Amino acid sequence: MRLNQSHKVNDKPRNWVRVAGHIAEIPFGSNNLAEVPAGGRTVLLVKGADGIHAVAPKCPHAGGALVHGWLDGSGNVVCPLHRYRFCPSNGRNVSGEGYYLKRWPVEERADGVYVGLEAGFLSGLFGA
Ligand code: FES
Repeated sequence: MRLNQSHKVNDKPRNWVRVAGHIAEIPFGSNNLAEVPAGGRTVLLVKGADGIHAVAPKCPHAGGALVHGWLDGSGNVVCPLHRYRFCPSNGRNVSGEGYYLKRWPVEERADGVYVGLEAGFLSGLFGA
């Protein structure tokens, strides 16, 4: 499974948080979506044809739990509440309502799968 490490989110410094020892350990449902803990928060991992992506678990429209949604034929995440669609590769709201789904880069390393959170997130959380 290829990960989305080639897709740059931006050039911010990141804290890379290990979310699984191996891709096979990620608890994807039949909808190819899985919520996992990452550095004190939850991220939604999306298993798409182009690799694994990490996005926010709640819909930016009204907080729908995206883990209960599904992927459409183009690989977009569909929110189960009002069916807005989001591209997991870039966060765009491809159904056109004007929202943006936050996302983070994913890397597979020798010792596991990592999500690159913003560097300030953990330091702000723990006062480091
Ligand atoms: S809460 Fe997701 S589309 Fe409305």
